[in-house]
Amino acid sequence: METSLIILKPDAVQRALVGSILSRFEQKGLQIVGMKLMRISQDLAAKHYKDHAGKPFYAGLVKFMTSEPVVVLALRGVGAIGVCRNLMGATFGSKAAAGTIRGDFGISNSFNLVHGSDGPEAAARELGLFFGPGEIADSSRAIDTWVYDSASGKPE
Ligand code: RTP
Ligand code: MG
Repeated sequence: METSLIILKPDAVQRALVGSILSRFEQKGLQIVGMKLMRISQDLAAKHYKDHAGKPFYAGLVKFMTSEPVVVLALRGVGAIGVCRNLMGATFGSKAAAGTIRGDFGISNSFNLVHGSDGPEAAARELGLFFGPGEIADSSRAIDTWVYDSASGKPE
């Protein structure tokens, strides 16, 4: 099981797409184990996007991400990090394939609706930035007996 940090960015909230985007993740089979509406501070944005500091789009990215509230999610599932990235689609909405969140809901390049952790190390770091102790649920779901094949003893 993996857990990914997903952010529904300010454009998703302002465009009233939270429910539609969240449904994509839920319908895939991912479990919501953390969720909150919050405003990202300058300090938190700087920590979250530390690897992008100095890039041409960095200042605009931080301004965008701190401009209005976002919805932050912790989503759990087998291979959840890669599964979420596939559901999100390519970075730029103009290029993202139809059928993906960015491909179906956006046309802008930088206002691309959703952030997802890009690997296990990033996920652990980002979950720690956005969720405090006890804010991520450790519960199982009844539906997982049908979401996964557990005949081998582990969910597949
Ligand atoms: P994210 O981190 O948000 O999940 O997106 P990503 O991995 O697909 O893209 P990344 O390269 O990490 O870039 C982070 C965010 O910066 C904005 N961006 N704008 N205008 C530009 O050239 C440009 N490049 C990146 C996007 O909002 C992107 O999601
Ligand atoms: Mg990224």
